[in-house]
Amino acid sequence: MSESIRDIEVSLGPRSYRIHSGPGLLRDESWLCERIPHRRILLVSDENVAPLYLDRLQAALGERELHSQVIPAGEAEKTLARLGEIHDHCAQIGLPRDGVILALGGGVISDLAGFAAATWHRGVDFIPLPTTLLAQVDAAVGGKTAINHPSGKNLIGAFHQPRAVIADSDTLTSLPEREYRAGLAEVIKHAVIADPHLLHWLEARVRQIKERDPGTLADTVIACCRIKAKIVSEDETEQGRRAILNFGHTFGHAIETAGKHGEWLHGEAVAAGMALALELSRRLELIDEDYRNRIIGLMKALELPVEAPRMPPEQWLDLMGRDKKVSAGRIRFIVVDGPGSAVVRDAVDPATLHEVLQWSPSR
Ligand code: NAD
Ligand code: GLY
Repeated sequence: MSESIRDIEVSLGPRSYRIHSGPGLLRDESWLCERIPHRRILLVSDENVAPLYLDRLQAALGERELHSQVIPAGEAEKTLARLGEIHDHCAQIGLPRDGVILALGGGVISDLAGFAAATWHRGVDFIPLPTTLLAQVDAAVGGKTAINHPSGKNLIGAFHQPRAVIADSDTLTSLPEREYRAGLAEVIKHAVIADPHLLHWLEARVRQIKERDPGTLADTVIACCRIKAKIVSEDETEQGRRAILNFGHTFGHAIETAGKHGEWLHGEAVAAGMALALELSRRLELIDEDYRNRIIGLMKALELPVEAPRMPPEQWLDLMGRDKKVSAGRIRFIVVDGPGSAVVRDAVDPATLHEVLQWSPSR
């Protein structure tokens, strides 16, 4: 992989856009003004990120009419009430149809601000400026926007493709260690479902990844965005292939929902969910034990949790049944059927599923 490639296209005809990744992007005034040509801007951020990066962005965007809205941080903010506050702000500043909403923050901010952009005036431009690893490789890319409903995650939302994605890799240096590690789960996911070379590459760079080596990080973000851009270009609204991006998520969302008070970060729950999805793939004889152990070994080396919490099977089924990926009453699972390859399975024998739910990687 070459460090100089920092620009990927998501090809969607008239909705095509570019993902830009690299250091210093939020400081580069002329470059930023070209990508954000809008006169009136509403920037949404959270209370952790805004103090770190809002000033530099305001300085870089200079002459523009930039309004900002800073909300508390965390998953609990992805609510209808917060969405309403953003709409109120749009109304107050008269954000026009040719205005733009920027999202400076992690996946919570890009999901929430993206949905506000999808719904204000039936859709205004949206440009995420992702500041977590998870958002740079996944949440800010591909046009899924959503808020949570008390009965489940991301149940209210829309597909609304960004106008561009601007991922400044310098912002990852201030990311708390636990958040950084959680983002690595989505990195491993991309390699497992679509790119065996990326998997080898990651295995060979565990030290550099843990040290957040800037070159390694930039290459990692671009490699994942290339994979996601290709999948999204083939299946924008998840009629088929895009579902493989949910590898580990059916189990993961159940883990996240069962955990009280944000006990599990999204990426952590996805990591433990991927361990179960790998075991399911093995029991379906799609992969062997060595391959399952290899991926779990990489997750452990990167200090990701691989052990799901103990729950009775009925609780698992209830939580997984609430997932929006349930189709015709059947829970859909993404399983791997070889290195860099994944498929959807929605007819898993209940006995097999029960065994998987009782399985532990440490036994
Ligand atoms: P997050 O947005 O909550 O950010 C994590 C924490 O890090 C927050 O406390 C935030 O304030 C802080 N933070 C962010 N950037 C920082 C920085 N550079 N320096 C210091 N602190 C920083 O969480 P996340 O993991 O980025 O995103 C999780 C969300 O993304 C979930 O709601 C999930 O559903 C969603 N998601 C969406 C998609 C999609 O395709 N739309 C894909 C994956 C995940
Ligand atoms: N994060 C899954 C998707 O974008 O489809």
